[in-house]
Amino acid sequence: MKLCMIGTGYVGLVSGVCFAELGNDVICVDKDIAKINKLKKSIIPIYEPGLEELVKKNYKSGRLKFSTDLAESVRKSNIIFICVGTPTIKNKYEADLSQVYSVTKEISKNIKSFKIIINKSTVPVTTGDKVEKIISLKVKKQLFSVVSNPEFLREGEAIRDFIYPDRVVIGTSEKKSNKILKNLYSPLISKGAKYINTSRRAAELIKYASNAFLATKITFINELANLCEKLDINIEDVSIGIGTDNRIGSRFLRAGPAYGGSCFPKDTRALIDTAKKSKSPLSIINTVINSNNKRSHLLLTRIAKILKNKIKNKKITFLGVTFKANTDDMRESASLKMIPFLNKKGAIINYYDPSGKKNEFEKYKNVKFKNNIKDACEMSDLIIVHTEWNEFKLLDLKKIVKKRNFIIYDMRNIYSAEKMKKQKIKYFGIGK
Ligand code: UGA
Repeated sequence: MKLCMIGTGYVGLVSGVCFAELGNDVICVDKDIAKINKLKKSIIPIYEPGLEELVKKNYKSGRLKFSTDLAESVRKSNIIFICVGTPTIKNKYEADLSQVYSVTKEISKNIKSFKIIINKSTVPVTTGDKVEKIISLKVKKQLFSVVSNPEFLREGEAIRDFIYPDRVVIGTSEKKSNKILKNLYSPLISKGAKYINTSRRAAELIKYASNAFLATKITFINELANLCEKLDINIEDVSIGIGTDNRIGSRFLRAGPAYGGSCFPKDTRALIDTAKKSKSPLSIINTVINSNNKRSHLLLTRIAKILKNKIKNKKITFLGVTFKANTDDMRESASLKMIPFLNKKGAIINYYDPSGKKNEFEKYKNVKFKNNIKDACEMSDLIIVHTEWNEFKLLDLKKIVKKRNFIIYDMRNIYSAEKMKKQKIKYFGIGK
């Protein structure tokens, strides 16, 4: 099939490349000329394991193309995916849909034969209705169909998640579009993905409800971890104990710092905005947002306690600063609250992240990036494991750190408390 992905962010680029890998002809479009020129040279704008190889392979085969010409790309394709960003409007909970509507207008000027226009961007319920209305101002109803097809891939696991999804959700009541899209996704369905056809509005809500539910699960376990710390219980025992009940499920029950990233914080806020506009409150999600917002401060209080309230001049190392492993993404990472706070209290901070130096910390005098673990840790009083990168999991910190009484605060519970005790290392985890 001939596909066009508008927007080469996480969702657009990964889906486009994977669709090409499945044998389709795909044009990835972006208005950012520099980005498109780089992609043509297989220079990938994001850190995502396996993506570069797939881009190279499919670009070479001719199935994957990159373009800045939206009009021509739309004309050449049968299925158009809208994959632009829907960030939160500053100081509001509402999603900014300006990019969705502006590309919709461009698309509507270039429909001469039947096209399916798919919203893959995460958009509030009724956005599909509005997109349809905009297009119908220029195009006859028989020539287009607007469908919602949310994406559930995770950063860092994006290719695997795309190729082996649990489900494919297609929001349309039109038989013709449903048939074409079932065929497009048939390679994934034959590998076990469930195909779910719903109304367009239901598909839009499924995306928000999924992210909000997962954010709730994490917040639930994080709050239980706080309780475990008071009662001398290991949260990991509780996660296993409840997660093995199939009705609950074991995934997304790892306690840690506040959840972050470009999706959970943004999407929980946007869902609250939708609920508010519909005058149907979602009090649980509101509580989740508030609890998560407070979490960084709560962990900072614990750091102060661990350091006996003597933060000034303490050498603190952050291992990992991104919001999770296998990504270079800093959006809404808990480290963005923690590092400036500790810096303000007079700590001297080194950080190391496998995805490299971060501009976000450039303005702080006593926050320095070290390009290896040894330099980051050797003079440290306190090592904070903030992100669960694999390369941190088997470190012999006793050998690396020169200070005798250094402390580890393992915010991802990647180390065994027993082993640390045996090595006589002062160790603190989350929820234990
Ligand atoms: C999330 C969803 O998992 C994807 O299904 C969805 O497609 C995506 O948002 C999106 O809407 O585009 P992502 O933001 O890449 O994916 O990251 P997750 O792996 O879900 O992690 C989000 C946050 O939760 C991270 O800060 C992570 O560290 C935290 N987390 C996750 C925990 O603290 N504990 C867990 O058990 C799992």
